[in-house]
Amino acid sequence: MGKIRVGIIGCGAIAHAAHIPAYLKCEDAEIVYFCDIIKERAEECVAKYGVGKAVTDYKVIAQDETIDAVSICTPNHMHAIISIDMLRGGKHVLCEKPAARTYAETLEMQKVQHETNKVLNIGVVNRFNASVNEIRDLINSGKLGEVYHVYVSFRAFRSIPGLGGDFTNKAVAGGGALIDWGVHYLDIVMYCLNDPKPETVSGQAYSKLGVNMKEYKYETMWAGPPKYDGVYDVDDFVTALIRT
Ligand SMILES: NC(=O)c1ccc[n+]([C@@H]2O[C@H](COP(=O)([O-])OP(=O)(O)OC[C@H]3O[C@@H](n4cnc5c(N)ncnc54)[C@H](O)[C@@H]3O)[C@@H](O)[C@H]2O)c1
Repeated sequence: MGKIRVGIIGCGAIAHAAHIPAYLKCEDAEIVYFCDIIKERAEECVAKYGVGKAVTDYKVIAQDETIDAVSICTPNHMHAIISIDMLRGGKHVLCEKPAARTYAETLEMQKVQHETNKVLNIGVVNRFNASVNEIRDLINSGKLGEVYHVYVSFRAFRSIPGLGGDFTNKAVAGGGALIDWGVHYLDIVMYCLNDPKPETVSGQAYSKLGVNMKEYKYETMWAGPPKYDGVYDVDDFVTALIRT
């Protein structure tokens, strides 16, 4: 069997940090396309990694019958649209987390995955983390006894990503702290506990910490620098109780 022919859609931070180096290391895969709406970003990848072809329209890849699989590394508002087009184009899809902006968009992705019978995987990467799997094994083997309460807390200290950019714009990202970081923690818990069915969820989301962008004193800002003329309308603190 020949190598798995892959396209990278979205040539930003996570593509460079994780997807591209992983494919380059994998003897069974080859990167055939780099796609970004910012042409220079795709071209820089071809120059830097010495493989593939630069394109700006992901549909070129969806229509190329020689492509087996894609990584979708774009901002969240494009996850469902591109995943669905790629699945319908006969590609396997690894889409970055969160799956999409809303439950409805995510269900549509799942529906098309069932129709096409291609792989649709979402980049909730902690499932592949050895320490997470050790916890899961402790639970499954009964060593932890009956798990009747899980407490998860996460705080990013003065590091809202890219104030005013894609990550703080609800129309693009779908939400803030919960959808960006929260999905990882929810996924770890559900994965370790073998997906218990939630019966009720009560919670509260706040958008307060970054609203006054100019006054926000950040220590680090990945996806920055701040765009003070941009949009900030996402949650930056969320608390919830999920009963299963
Ligand atoms: N699994 C993880 O732990 C993890 C970590 C970081 C980011 N992410 C996810 O990865 C995604 C990208 O994040 P990032 O930090 O790399 O963002 P980024 O802004 O650095 O990169 C996104 C790239 O996508 C390009 N793009 C936008 N629309 C496009 C389109 N229609 N077609 C092709 N390219 C398009 C942009 O020009 C940009 O270069 C987000 O969904 C984010 O949540 C996941």
